[in-house]
Amino acid sequence: MLKKLATGAAFALALVPAAGFAAGGSGHVEDFQFSFEGPFGKYDQNQLQRGLQIYTEVCAACHGLKFVPIRTLSDEGGPGLPEEQVRAYAAENFTVYDPELDEDRPAKPVDHFPENTAAGAPDLSLMAKARAGFHGPYGSGMNQLFKGMGGAEYIASLLDGYTGKEKEEAGTIFYENTAFPGGWISMAPPLSDEQVEFADGHANDVHHMSQDVAAFLMWTAEPKMMARQQAGFVGVLILTLLSVLLYLTNKRLWAPHKGKKTS
Ligand code: HEC
Repeated sequence: MLKKLATGAAFALALVPAAGFAAGGSGHVEDFQFSFEGPFGKYDQNQLQRGLQIYTEVCAACHGLKFVPIRTLSDEGGPGLPEEQVRAYAAENFTVYDPELDEDRPAKPVDHFPENTAAGAPDLSLMAKARAGFHGPYGSGMNQLFKGMGGAEYIASLLDGYTGKEKEEAGTIFYENTAFPGGWISMAPPLSDEQVEFADGHANDVHHMSQDVAAFLMWTAEPKMMARQQAGFVGVLILTLLSVLLYLTNKRLWAPHKGKKTS
């Protein structure tokens, strides 16, 4: 018995550092306050438009968004660009191969954002849902219950997490990053202060731009988040009403057996 206890304790002790390592190894992720968080959260249309601009001017050089139809830029709840503007945006920024014409032509709203595999960079359409910003404690994932999955927080922290240190390994340059698991990423710091100029004069330092483009990528990964939250809320409301009615029915049905008079 004593021996069993001792091995149990040793096993538990061995587990704790292992779990601690798993949580610690995933880098530091800042808990940003995004407008779309919480049960009544909404995407901030202006922020999504700034994020789109950053993606187009900076990230699109290496990253595709192949699952995102360009026309959704005019969807309500998204960046909400007028359809005219979406048509112009598609034609000005992207060309796609048209199998019917058998040649490249300017993109139209019905096309998807192009795929981009040139730089070996992953597609960003669903990246905000493919990464979790919050883990632990001790590998339990409980933090996600309170803070959310943190995909957008991870992306913003990644873009804002470069320390400026570099190293070369087997011909590849790696950049030190406090959010990237392992601490070294092969993506050069893509953003620098005042790199993108916004029409409304909004702050364009790395810290702000990281959040704007992260919010935009949350939208590409989950464009219907607001509708989903609304449906959930209506569901809870209906279930609450049903519970009240059931309670009253139950009370009424049992009233005669409890010696009370029915009205
Ligand atoms: C010069 C090319 C280049 C540009 C520009 C660029 N990236 Fe990257 N990005 C990469 C490469 C390469 C990787 C893969 C890095 C790795 O796994 O080490 C990557 C990886 C990523 C990842 C995934 C990290 C992970 O957890 O695996 C995200 C998110 C990302 N980039 C976002 C962005 C955003 C947002 C922008 C625009 C602000 C941007 N990138 C601009 C080349 C680029």
